[in-house]
Amino acid sequence: MTERELMQTAQQARKNSHSPYSHFRVGAALLTKSGKVYTGCNIENAAYPATVCAERTAIFKAVSEGEHGFEALAIVGGREGETASLCAPCGVCRQVIAEFCPKDFKILLGTPEKFTSYTLEQLLPLSFTGEDL
Ligand code: THU
Repeated sequence: MTERELMQTAQQARKNSHSPYSHFRVGAALLTKSGKVYTGCNIENAAYPATVCAERTAIFKAVSEGEHGFEALAIVGGREGETASLCAPCGVCRQVIAEFCPKDFKILLGTPEKFTSYTLEQLLPLSFTGEDL
């Protein structure tokens, strides 16, 4: 799977977004080292804090299936009807990514047509992880 295909998979996953409150739709696609892809979308709730982001949906689906080695995560998002040029993961998602992925883990942001690859270290420098405990 190429990086572009992973971005396209995230865009597809975005179609399942349940976002009747924010109207901000996000899709994510997580590539495992074994070549499997787990997708996720944001799932909102009338009790707002119960909402889960697309990235965490994908990661929790994968981990709950026993997956642990991850290669890259693609994220596509934006307001309903449009695709933002960049949808950056929230702080909570960055922390969850850091729980399961190394510092050089790739995070692809943008659109399938134009995206940039960042490392987890770039998006969450000086992170607090299990190694600090
Ligand atoms: N959201 C995500 O799913 N991922 C992000 O990276 C940023 C925000 C969701 C949460 C909420 O459903 C909506 O976007 C607006 O914050």
